[in-house]
Amino acid sequence: MKKQDKIWLDGKFVDWDQAQVHILTHTLHYGFGVFEGTRCYKCVDGSAIFRLDEHLQRLYNSAQILTLEIPYAQEDLEAASCEILRVNKMEEGYLRHIVFIGEGEMGLGTMTNPIRTAIIAWAWGAYLGEEGLKKGIRLKTSSYARLPVQVFPTKAKAVGNYVNSILAKREALKAGYDEALMLDLSGYVAECSGENIFLVNNQTIRTTPESSSILNGITRKSVIQLARDQGYTVLETTFPRDEVYTADEVFLTGTAAEVTPVREVDNRQIGAGKAGPATLALQAAFFDVVKGKNKKYKQWLTYL
Ligand SMILES: Cc1ncc(COP(=O)(O)O)c(C=O)c1O
Repeated sequence: MKKQDKIWLDGKFVDWDQAQVHILTHTLHYGFGVFEGTRCYKCVDGSAIFRLDEHLQRLYNSAQILTLEIPYAQEDLEAASCEILRVNKMEEGYLRHIVFIGEGEMGLGTMTNPIRTAIIAWAWGAYLGEEGLKKGIRLKTSSYARLPVQVFPTKAKAVGNYVNSILAKREALKAGYDEALMLDLSGYVAECSGENIFLVNNQTIRTTPESSSILNGITRKSVIQLARDQGYTVLETTFPRDEVYTADEVFLTGTAAEVTPVREVDNRQIGAGKAGPATLALQAAFFDVVKGKNKKYKQWLTYL
């Protein structure tokens, strides 16, 4: 990763190399923290962060679910999110917000350690590869189920939840695939390790409902709206993986992955084995919106 100049840490801009934490940082040991990922795009008329309000709202919701109190007002983090990009003279990039428990006591129940907050910006290209974005990626169903709501708060973007995601991702990569398809405990499709999933059949698009063991993706919500505005019927419904195999098109959404086509699942070719027309249309619509080319969705952009 290319270093940038500054990182926002606990209210101050500190040098990239100085933004360090103590080895006794509580979250490092137990994974109890929350984070966000959002992107800033170079638009036709400046630079803008995509759905910053929604991402920050999810950060505060995640913290509320974990009973962590973020020691800053949302407006402060909004201003700092724009400022970190300006300070680093970045016209575009990925933004990571993280709220974690600092050092002090090591007991699980400590309530006295400081709650720390950081915002980091870095350059991040296509998460699943430029070629994947164009031609589609290959998925493998994971042997790990997505965390059930009885066990983990899936609506919180919590640090520790990603042990489950990383196990699935590593398993898929080691088997030669690009990404893991994760099922819920009942065997129905949930999502991928860091993306939501969509199926296309004719003019109907399906994605797993918010009531599933999924993170309520902000890209998911945006693409649902874009698809409905383009005249597609979008159903939020559960489906088994059989229906993924037989879909005309499959694609994934996420801040990092943007809108990525899927060309193969568990050694079965999907549709024509390349990015399908609906996927390409929605991908193009998404990129137009995030790059400020479609004024209809201007309210989704926070210009720096
Ligand atoms: C597990 C998981 N599901 C889905 C998503 C997609 O969410 P979003 O579109 O808000 O980035 C992410 C990424 O944040 C994720 O980590």
